[in-house]
Amino acid sequence: DWTPEHFIQSTVEKIRAQVGDGHAICGLSGGVDSSVAAVLVARAIGDRLTCIFVNNGVLRKDEFAKVQRNMREGLGLNVVAIDAGERFLTKLAGVTDPEKKRKIIGNEFIAVFDDEATKIFEAEKSAGEEVAWLVQGTLYPDVIESSSVHGPSHTIKSHHNVGGLPENMKLKLIEPLRDLFKDEVRRIGRDLGMPEEILERQPFPGPGLAVRILGEVTADRVALLQEADEIVVTEIKAAGLYRKVWQSFAVLLPVKSVGVMGDQRTYAYTCAIRAVESEDGMTADWAPLPYEVLRTISSRIVSEVRGINRVVYDITSKPPGTIEWE
Ligand code: XMP
Repeated sequence: DWTPEHFIQSTVEKIRAQVGDGHAICGLSGGVDSSVAAVLVARAIGDRLTCIFVNNGVLRKDEFAKVQRNMREGLGLNVVAIDAGERFLTKLAGVTDPEKKRKIIGNEFIAVFDDEATKIFEAEKSAGEEVAWLVQGTLYPDVIESSSVHGPSHTIKSHHNVGGLPENMKLKLIEPLRDLFKDEVRRIGRDLGMPEEILERQPFPGPGLAVRILGEVTADRVALLQEADEIVVTEIKAAGLYRKVWQSFAVLLPVKSVGVMGDQRTYAYTCAIRAVESEDGMTADWAPLPYEVLRTISSRIVSEVRGINRVVYDITSKPPGTIEWE
């Protein structure tokens, strides 16, 4: 009989036996899966798990600070945070092709992660260890769909080896959530005492805001979209809809149009609001957000975000659309 308590107990015991007195690393995204995986492993081996959290320059507003706080203070995890935003944005300069953006962010993430993992394991090598462990929050749907178009976000493919790892060291995977579906992961998280704020988070793509900024990704555009996104999330939550929709977010379009603000003519960007209902992200219906909520979102964005003067609503389902715009 499957219960969260049984699962947690047997998984923790298994990990403890596997890892022995070794060390593990885990890439955190701030999302449900990597957080639950990390907390489970930390239950088993405590501070011998080091979590790595990377600012890729395309996180949500204040997310780099918030996730660190949640993970350290809220969950008691041992977190190394790397602020690599500029490094990512430099690589993204001039790039407009969606798949190129994904590739650049994926490769850069692996490079940053490798450097950090190498440092951590080099430090442990003096302790005479030969096996290093890599924790990933892979779920059952990720396993059966490993050939999906985009691939799971912050996962480093199982064949990937941390490049600079000491020669005699082997990297082995721990994937404690491999047999589970999302709702089971949330139940485990609850049983582990994790906050709802983390467990109920809407999915957020690994390439982050980069695939919600159509055209070139620049620091200015990221800042604009962060402001608009913050307003969307705040208003969706205030309306009690955050958990009812699968995802709700803003997309920055490289389209400028004319507007008026007081007695000033404006010429600024357009932002699209996207909200969908879905079971698993494979198919989705556009969500019929109440007009009042749309009205508030629209007027707040136009009046508070200097640089956006028009808001439109995306009423495309998947298929034939995708959830993200890129
Ligand atoms: P689409 O846009 O393909 O999105 O309908 C389906 C789900 O996948 C998420 N998504 C991604 N997640 N890396 C990710 O980790 C990606 O490159 C990526 N692209 C899309 C999207 O947010 C939605 O939940």
